[in-house]
Amino acid sequence: MKSEKFSMVAKTMTGLEEILANELNNIGATDIELSNRAVTFTGDKELMYKANYWSRTALHILKPIAGFYIRREEDLYKKIYDIQWEDYMNATGTLAVDAVVNASVMTHSHYVSLKTKDAIVDRFRDYTERRPNVDIENPDIRVNIHLFKNYCSVSLDSSGYSLHKRGYRIKTGVAPISEVLAAGIILLSGWDKQSNFIDPMCGSGTIVCEAAMIANNIPPGYYRKTFGFEKWKDFDLNLWEKIKMDAINEQIEFEYDIIGSDISSEAIEIARENAKSARLHKDIVFEVKSFEEQIPPEDGGILIMNPPYGERIVPEDIVKLYQEVGNALKKNYNGYNAWIISSDFNALKFIGLKPTRKITLFNGPLECKLAKFEIYQGSKKTAKFTD
Ligand SMILES: C[S@@+](CC[C@H](N)C(=O)[O-])C[C@H]1O[C@@H](n2cnc3c(N)ncnc32)[C@H](O)[C@@H]1O
Repeated sequence: MKSEKFSMVAKTMTGLEEILANELNNIGATDIELSNRAVTFTGDKELMYKANYWSRTALHILKPIAGFYIRREEDLYKKIYDIQWEDYMNATGTLAVDAVVNASVMTHSHYVSLKTKDAIVDRFRDYTERRPNVDIENPDIRVNIHLFKNYCSVSLDSSGYSLHKRGYRIKTGVAPISEVLAAGIILLSGWDKQSNFIDPMCGSGTIVCEAAMIANNIPPGYYRKTFGFEKWKDFDLNLWEKIKMDAINEQIEFEYDIIGSDISSEAIEIARENAKSARLHKDIVFEVKSFEEQIPPEDGGILIMNPPYGERIVPEDIVKLYQEVGNALKKNYNGYNAWIISSDFNALKFIGLKPTRKITLFNGPLECKLAKFEIYQGSKKTAKFTD
């Protein structure tokens, strides 16, 4: 029997839409369309499970179940009430509602989620005399409401809690980068896994852990304990086990070096613990070292790092730090492509090299530039970064 196909929405971060679309294409998604921080696509249940397990740059995979316009507040309650919720959960089950509201008759997302929850609960009470309970942390179904210009999309969140929570990062440092952003930067860099990889300001080790997972073809969902769809009424355990088993057989060995170093011994201790929890500690060499002292392997490769921006970590002299980064790049990183993400556009100029690419990304609320510097003999003379 052919499995039923349906439309889905994968949510992501600004600037990662195209990378996510590629990832979805690679696992067999069709009808792929990009929008703001989201990619819509078509696939069956197997593809939905795979999208959750394999997409390094997705935050949530949503399955739309209804859509309608509302003119006034009461319409929302009525239309939500009319959905056959008994197809998706039992009266004794639990639910949570997330809402995003923009340019609509209803302006408060919290109120929209409350009204949605009331309508679902009332329907069950009217039909069964029982009512589901709310469970914010671990519900049976997580309902997602997207209300934009009075059009309301109702979806089930097949991921549950955000997919950036991979499950391996047990500790963080002062200013950790999101796992999804770290993976997105590595994929944007086009690293072909045929060269060394170094993050010489690795903090809690997120970028090197994500690189090691990519290098070994370990799915980003490998360490996660649960996904939303596992509690759905139509959950197919055999299909899910098969996807996970296939992934184990698809793991590959990586021949080159992955190096994470940081000036802070405390940060390196945390990074080691995180890598150990991901069972990647044998794949990554960690060193307590300043960026200036770090000498990378001679045969070239890729450097990706997020230095302090002067926001959460405030170095004494941010300009001097970026100048020293530039000097060390020119001196020690011949044959490397360096990708540096920072929200401090002025400081980036003091690297003293002209970037060959600049990509806008957001680290939380901070607008950042991801700048690529190609280091080769003679790049010392090239011009500076400009906004
Ligand atoms: C923004 S944090 C990196 C966070 C990291 N990506 C993570 O996910 O945890 C910047 C890091 O740069 C380190 N750092 C600052 N100056 C340094 C230097 N001169 N050499 C090496 N590391 C340095 C800090 O100790 C800090 O861990």
